[in-house]
Amino acid sequence: MDAPGYADPPETPGPIDVHSHLIPGVDDGCDSVKDMLGCIEQLMQRGFTGSVCTPHVFPAMFPETTPANVRDWVAALQEDVDAAGLDYQLWPGGEVRIISGMIDWMAEHGVPTLGDSRYVLMDTWGDAWPDEGDELCEHLVTQGYTPILAHPERMPISDDVLADLLDRLNAMGVLLQGNFNSFSGAEGPSAATWAARLMREGRYFLLASDVHHPHDMETRFEGLALAEIEAGPEQLADMIVANPRKVLGLV
Ligand SMILES: [Fe+2]
Repeated sequence: MDAPGYADPPETPGPIDVHSHLIPGVDDGCDSVKDMLGCIEQLMQRGFTGSVCTPHVFPAMFPETTPANVRDWVAALQEDVDAAGLDYQLWPGGEVRIISGMIDWMAEHGVPTLGDSRYVLMDTWGDAWPDEGDELCEHLVTQGYTPILAHPERMPISDDVLADLLDRLNAMGVLLQGNFNSFSGAEGPSAATWAARLMREGRYFLLASDVHHPHDMETRFEGLALAEIEAGPEQLADMIVANPRKVLGLV
């Protein structure tokens, strides 16, 4: 029993994973609630206390993935998490594909933010920055949102072009989110080189797992360990604890 008069030590907040594909059956992420719970258990073993669920927002492939539906799905999944006895918080979100028509789609369906924040996670998969990219970022910034580009280190763009692009996006107010996996080499040598470079340059606002399935999480955590070596524990904590909490309005 604690000695009377001694206050409990302040709780140290744990990391929050801001990029994940935990919602079963809505994209290329988890296939089942069991998969989702398997991912969460592994995250909890590493000290994580919550995840933002960020399914792909790409209406041509996943027309049901709207902010309203994601909110409902996450509320139902939180009940599954609670029923499994896991003390773990889920937030709704999305990974917005940079495509033509996205501004109109958001006008109709709402902006898929991370939690109730004004931060918007975005990605692109082409071999060049899309023509619509600048317009979408400028639109969001003008509307008071902060765009966050997911895993820029994985973009298949030549080094000089990517360096100039990231400088330009930063100047526009776009933040960067790196993937754990990129540091381990699991996304290829170019992603590993860029991840190390962006980390050295202090360019990442957030790091996240981008988890899709429970079976491949080990390499993601290996990448996280390498990211910590590159960044040092304090800078890493900014990217997985302090800044996620700032995004979600927890501080
Ligand atoms: Fe993702």
